[in-house]
Amino acid sequence: MITQQIPHATTVSALRTRVRSWRDDRLTVGFVPTMGALHEGHISLVRLAKAQCDRVVASIFVNPKQFAAGEDLDAYPRTLIDDAEKLTDARCDLIYLPTSEAMYPDGYSAGVTLTGPALGLEAAVRPHFFDGVATVVTKLFNQVRPDMAFFGEKDYQQLLVIRQLVKDLDFPINVLAGETGRAKDGLALSSRNAYLDADQRARASQLNVILKAFAAALGSGAGRAEATATAQASARAAFDGVDYVEARCAATLAELDDGPIDRPARVLAAVRLGSTRLIDNMAANPPA
Ligand code: PAF
Repeated sequence: MITQQIPHATTVSALRTRVRSWRDDRLTVGFVPTMGALHEGHISLVRLAKAQCDRVVASIFVNPKQFAAGEDLDAYPRTLIDDAEKLTDARCDLIYLPTSEAMYPDGYSAGVTLTGPALGLEAAVRPHFFDGVATVVTKLFNQVRPDMAFFGEKDYQQLLVIRQLVKDLDFPINVLAGETGRAKDGLALSSRNAYLDADQRARASQLNVILKAFAAALGSGAGRAEATATAQASARAAFDGVDYVEARCAATLAELDDGPIDRPARVLAAVRLGSTRLIDNMAANPPA
C-alpha cells in the first residue's frame, strides 16, 4: 500500500472532492495519465504540467482494455511505492489510483472507437490497443475533468489519437506533448525497457541510431521509399523482429509519396528484442 502522507485518491468521489476544492479556489488542473513504472519521461510530463497548471493530478492504472490476451498485462511492472516517491518529489498534488473493479465493473459495456490516426502502424500489430486507450482516457478525462492533459511524444501515434479524441468528442481539454526522454545512448525511456537483459539493452540503442539516420536521409532530400528500405534493412539486421519502420505525415500519419518529403514527417518504428517490443519515433523535416 501507498503511505499515508502522499495525497492520493482511489475513488472517483474522493478525486472529485479534491479537484472541486481546487476549482472553488479558481486553480487550474493538469492531468498526467500513466500506467505506473514511472521513469524520467513521465516525471518530465509532471514537471511540464506543474509549469502550466496550478495543481497536477497523475493517475496510475494498468488498463486491461489496452492489452490483448497473451500480451504482458500480468507481467507489466508495478512499482507503486517507488512511483509515489517520484511523484511526490516532482510535487505532484494528487495521485489517482483507480481499481480495475471500479473502472470496469461487472456489466461494463461502453467503448470508444476511432479511425483516422488510430489506423495502421501500432494498430496493425495491436488492433485492440487504441480503442482500449481511447476508452480509458475518456473515462479518466470525465473523472478528473482537467484543463490540460499531458502525453509523451514517445507514443506519437497515441498522442495524435488523443488529440483527435479530444477534438471529436468536444472535451474542453488542452492536450500538451512532452518530448521523449532518452537514456545516454539514445534509447527512448519506456517502462518496458525493464524487460531487457544486458545484451538486449546494449542492442536496443540501435533503434535510435537507425531512426536518426532515416530522419537525416529524408532531411537531406533522399526519396521516401528508398530511405525507408534502407532503414528497414538496418532494423532487420539489428533486431529479432521488425513490426514497422515507416515515414508518415507528422500531422495526420497519412502515408507519403515515394519521392523526397515536402512537408514535416515523422519516422516511426516498432521492433522486437526477444519478447520485448520497443517503439520510438522522431521528426523528419524536408530540406530547407
Ligand atoms: O501511455 C500510457 O501509459 C497509456 O496508454 C495511457 C495513456 C496512460 C492510457 O492507459
